[in-house]
Amino acid sequence: MPLQFADRLDNVETSAIRELFKLLGKPGIISFAGGFPDSAMFDVDGIREAVNTALTEEAGGALQYGATEGYNPLREQLARFMTDKGASDVAPENLIVTTGSQQALDLLGKALISPGDKVFVEGPTFLATIQCFRLYGAELVSAPIDGEGVKVDELEALIAEHRPKFIYLIPTFGNPSGATLNLERRKKVLELAVKYQTLVIEDDPYGDLYFGAAPPPSLLNLSASVPGSRELLVHCGSLSKVLSPGLRVGWMIAPAELLAKATMCKQFSDAHTSTFAQATAAQYLKAGRMPATLAKVRAVYAERAQAMGQALRRELGDAIEFTQPQGGLFIWARLTGAGGKVGDGNVLAKRAIEKGVAFVPGAPFFCANPDHATLRLSFATADVAKIEEGVARLAQAL
Ligand SMILES: Cc1ncc(COP(=O)(O)O)c(C=O)c1O
Repeated sequence: MPLQFADRLDNVETSAIRELFKLLGKPGIISFAGGFPDSAMFDVDGIREAVNTALTEEAGGALQYGATEGYNPLREQLARFMTDKGASDVAPENLIVTTGSQQALDLLGKALISPGDKVFVEGPTFLATIQCFRLYGAELVSAPIDGEGVKVDELEALIAEHRPKFIYLIPTFGNPSGATLNLERRKKVLELAVKYQTLVIEDDPYGDLYFGAAPPPSLLNLSASVPGSRELLVHCGSLSKVLSPGLRVGWMIAPAELLAKATMCKQFSDAHTSTFAQATAAQYLKAGRMPATLAKVRAVYAERAQAMGQALRRELGDAIEFTQPQGGLFIWARLTGAGGKVGDGNVLAKRAIEKGVAFVPGAPFFCANPDHATLRLSFATADVAKIEEGVARLAQAL
């Protein structure tokens, strides 16, 4: 008898990107496809020291079951980390630790979405968010963006029309767009949250990865200056892109009532995030290693972003257009089709693999009205020489 699956699975399908990843095993492929940090960047010595300290000083706590809200020493360190970055009123009890920020998104979906609820995401947005919210039955509405993030006038018109359950944004160095919401628009988003009493989720795994000047303050930091907005704001953070995704340590700051519901959902999900990983992360932060680690990854990614931007302009010329990112891991580009060159990201992705370079086409990152000319290129995992070689191969595929 064929297995009968839940109806909710009808709303989602395996991502086109995962299918593409299967081709990446080909020997010699230079990959700009992944959304992950460079493994060579991991502070292995620092993490080893943190593990040793955790096992020496707190083996019981690090190896035992723990509280669903998170391991208290880590909640304290994360509250301090956020406060040092300019957030006000973040005490340990205002946040819960999640198994990566991906779990925060899942818990939010579980706690907030009833089938048929309208939820806004940026067009384009993080693919796993689209899949996760759809799994809970959300009807996604795509809010258009430009190089400075979500277009707030259009956002307001959409809110007035659809009255969404919540709005999900990646305001800083978005995935895949690389775009950063400007300061004026950030204030406006918070004002809209208050005006329409709409919850806003700020997903911020990339905000610390800036190359030059720091980006505008997070929505969380700004919420102190927009009365009433903090009660309508969720902030998701993660150690994945700055320290190690394998630790699976993320966190969520949210109004108390929502935090309680998310915690309840987490009980049924994984009981708690690995105490071993949490104790390690807590010791790492406590040892004060984060500023040096951040300085290092920012410098390396800045150099690679620069190299990729220059190579794309040099090798692909007017066949491609993009805004040079000021942080994060990605260049989001559009094929112009100039001179009869390939104008479709999917077509180019297949031809590129044959030439020995991989990236992901942009269309799957849209929940509606996909722009088929777009593509996402990660500059994080290849060194400068590989980036130059990979872009040269890309030019041959055009
Ligand atoms: C925008 C965004 N949110 C959340 C995540 C999930 O990250 P993690 O679960 O490793 O914290 C990612 C990872 O790629 C991401 O790009």
